[in-house]
Amino acid sequence: MKYMMFFKKKEMEVPSNQLPQHIGFIMDGNGRWAKQRHLPRSAGHRAGANTLKSITRICGELGIPYITFYAFSTDNWSRPKEEVDDLMKLLYDYLCNADETIGGERVRIRVSGDMTRLDQKFQDMIADLVERTKARDGITATIALNYGGKDEIVHAVRKVAQRVKQGILEPEKITEEIIAQNLYNPDIPDPDLIIRTSGEMRISNFLLWESAYAELYFSKVYWPDFDKKELMRALEDYSHRQRRFGGV
Ligand code: FPP
Repeated sequence: MKYMMFFKKKEMEVPSNQLPQHIGFIMDGNGRWAKQRHLPRSAGHRAGANTLKSITRICGELGIPYITFYAFSTDNWSRPKEEVDDLMKLLYDYLCNADETIGGERVRIRVSGDMTRLDQKFQDMIADLVERTKARDGITATIALNYGGKDEIVHAVRKVAQRVKQGILEPEKITEEIIAQNLYNPDIPDPDLIIRTSGEMRISNFLLWESAYAELYFSKVYWPDFDKKELMRALEDYSHRQRRFGGV
């Protein structure tokens, strides 16, 4: 009871106008969570997928409009084949049943990353999922899949270079806005807050361009243990940050 009262008080300490509009999550620590329990790494990823679902629900209830989860990076292909296959299968199964596994019938699903490296069946299913959920009115949950921040910038630059080659754009006319418009999801606002779990303090190639002015928060708990209490802690911390965007 005492705990509940503390919990409720913490929750009320974050006024809705001080909540971030977009949170990026670096879901780290699944492997160590599993190791602690003498379980295979795959069990950690499955537990992590459950956390993704509960965090999506909680963020939706709080009225946060956008969240992005770093599910598989361009560098994760270097993991042992067995783990890569297992993660891909997990991602495929979860996305196939996204309404149950991610967040209910109001969640809009988007993806970020180079989908062309995925199986055609996987790509088609994702395209269908994004289309099927696009008119929904709830939170937009973006799954970063085969995503790398540097890779995203390379893709954007290639598209811009194509226009230069075609003579449509002068190199001197290339602006930050033009690069930004050619990123994977130009219509999604930049993240205000990036949360990384497991005590590691790195960005690991996540939303490099978009996070130029994001606030960073590092939680010590492993992703499968990241819960509402930890999220509220991060949000409360964020609400006290002074964001100057390079100004004074
Ligand atoms: C990092 O932990 C986590 C990942 C590379 C995968 C994250 C993926 C999920 C949580 C699967 C769920 C996703 C969806 C869209 C349902 P790690 O394996 O690097 O952990 P470690 O650093 O402790 O080894």
